[in-house]
Parts: sequence; C-alpha cells; structure tokens
Amino acid sequence: MASKKRVLSGIQPSGRFHLGNYFAMIKKMVESQDKSELFCFIVDLHALTTVSEGEKLVEYTREAAVSLLSLGIDPDISHLWVQSDIPEVTELAWILSNVTPLGLMERCHSYKDKIAKGIKPSAGLFIYPILMAADILLFQSDLVPVGKDQKQHLEVARDIALKFNSVYGEIFTVPEPLIDKNVAVVPGIDGQKMSKSYGNTIEIFASKDDLRKNVMGIVTDSQSVEASKNPDRCNLYNIYKLFISGEEDRKLRKRYEDGGLKYGDVKKELFEIIWDYFKEAREKRETILKDKSYIDKILRAGADKTRETAVKTLKNVKDATGLSVRML
Ligand code: ADP
Ligand code: TRP
Repeated sequence: MASKKRVLSGIQPSGRFHLGNYFAMIKKMVESQDKSELFCFIVDLHALTTVSEGEKLVEYTREAAVSLLSLGIDPDISHLWVQSDIPEVTELAWILSNVTPLGLMERCHSYKDKIAKGIKPSAGLFIYPILMAADILLFQSDLVPVGKDQKQHLEVARDIALKFNSVYGEIFTVPEPLIDKNVAVVPGIDGQKMSKSYGNTIEIFASKDDLRKNVMGIVTDSQSVEASKNPDRCNLYNIYKLFISGEEDRKLRKRYEDGGLKYGDVKKELFEIIWDYFKEAREKRETILKDKSYIDKILRAGADKTRETAVKTLKNVKDATGLSVRML
C-alpha cells in the first residue's frame, strides 16, 4: 500500500482568522485529514517579525489554536503544535541559511511588500523564508496548502531542498505547493486581497452584528438595479461564490445577468449563508473555551508527538553536514 502523503501548513498568530485563510489553507488542511497525514502548526517564531508584545503573542497563539480546533483540525489523528515548542526548527534554519544564496532572499517580494507597509526591516524579516523552508523540510512534507501570496516562499523552500540535497545527499523531500486556483486570492470587502493588514477582512468568528456590518459593507459598483451585470467583475459575487457551486452558482450568475438584482438583497443572503456555514465551528468553539486548560494540553501533546520526526530529520542533517560526528 502506498504510504500516505504528508500535508503541512502553518499560520501566523497575528490576528483573527478570515475567509481568505479559511478557504486557501485551513479548509484544505481539514479535508486532507481523511486521506493524508496532516501537520498543522502555529508559527509564533514567524509572528515575532510583526508582533512585539509578549502578551499579544500569547493571546493570538491561543486564539489560533482554538480557531483551528473549532474549524475541524482533529488532534487525535493529526499533528497540531506551536512552532517554538519544537526548537529543532531554528537549528535547521541556521544550517539551511548556509546553502541559501543571498540573491534568493533578495528576490523575495514579500519582504519588500511588508517593508512598504511599515513593518520594521529586521534581519529576521529578511530571512523569514529560510525559517519557513526549515518548517517544511524538517517534517519531510509532500504538499503545502497555501494562498497564492506564499507561492514564492514555496519555491524558495524547494530551491533550498534541492541545493542541500545536491551538496549533502538526498536528505529532504522536495515539497509541492497546493494552491487551489479558485481560492488562490480571496478578495476582501474592498476588492483587494483579503488581509488582516488591509482591514478588509470578513472574520470567521465575528459576532453576528459585526459579521452583518462587514458583509453589508462589501463594496459594489453603482449600476442601476435593472442593468444586466457581469458577476465576475463583482466583488460581492466573488466572495459569495466561495460558498456555492453547481446549480446554485448558475442561478446566482443568471440573476446578475438578467438584471433586476439588488446588491442589498444579495448581501443579506450572503450574511445568512456565512453565519450558517460556521455554525458548527462556533458551537465547538464555545465548548473548547469552557475548559481553560484544554488548549495547553492539546498543544503540549501535539509538540511531544511531532518532535520525534523533527529529531530524526535533524539527526540525518547533522550526520550529513559533519555536525554530529565526534571522535570521543
Ligand atoms: P494575512 O494576509 O491576513 O496576514 P496570513 O499571511 O496570515 O494572512 O496568511 C495565512 C495563510 O492564508 C497563507 O497560506 C496565505 O497564503 C493565506 N491567505 C491569506 N489571505 C488570503 C487571501 N486573501 N486569499 C487566499 N489566501 C490567503
Ligand atoms: N509564511 C506563512 C504565512 O505568512 C506562514 C508559514 C510559516 C508557513 N511556515 C510555514 C506556511 C510553513 C506553510 C508552511 O502565511
């Protein structure tokens, strides 16, 4: 029997999760649990590049864990942990930095984009992709579900794996990105990419009032009700279509094209759909939040269970690089 593929992805604890995070990677991770081996983790070391208050980082890390569990990550069958609880990753990142050409980092646009947004240009931010490569390679991942903005980082991880393997022997699995073209860039309420840092998100666990406000605030054009409209150019449709397919999608498209469609009505429908869609997750969240120690226990156990894989890969890396051979 072929062995199961290993699916791995990480998410930064830097705010509350939104529809972009959900459709591009959380949902893919949840769905992969049936047939693959899932490794899912909260990348607190990466979040240090932007979150500088300790208390905030603790709060966001717990919030991320509660959200992932509520949305269906199952710690009994999958691996769920906090990045810094498996310190082997930082050791591997250093080793990898020595086979990483500087030019590879210089070409990364996410560094430039983040600086342009006002994030301080630290050395950590610059070598962020190396730590991400270490995350992926340490666990010998096959597939990495992410949104399109992470595509270049995946290419970097692949380049580093290939370079390392060519210098030291076949140590690492070369990972593939898993980017679903239908959700590669989920638009925000203003039509730009949905992102915490643009303040244009629809949060998964927003209160009912906030969700309604958010959805009613989706920016639409000023065409008349009677006009025949192109759904593909409508931001509201592009968010709505995340929740529907087949016949439902055809019907909605027809309503746009036939004319007579009021954006306000569509927004009200969408609000109800989103609210219902996450009902089960909200209920699960309520249950999880009742037991204060549950999250800590799950994350501790997750790191303990997963560390073994990290130790094994790092041992192979150290043997190959000459870091673990001693005469005495
Ligand atoms: P944000 O931009 O809101 O800070 P993150 O950088 O934390 O989001 O992204 C976490 C994961 O979610 C990454 O895999 C990223 O590619 C994906 N993602 C974030 N926003 C979107 C979006 N609008 N569309 C598709 N994927 C997204
Ligand atoms: N860089 C990713 C982001 O900003 C988060 C991340 C860190 C990650 N390590 C990873 C994603 C490993 C996939 C695999 O969203």
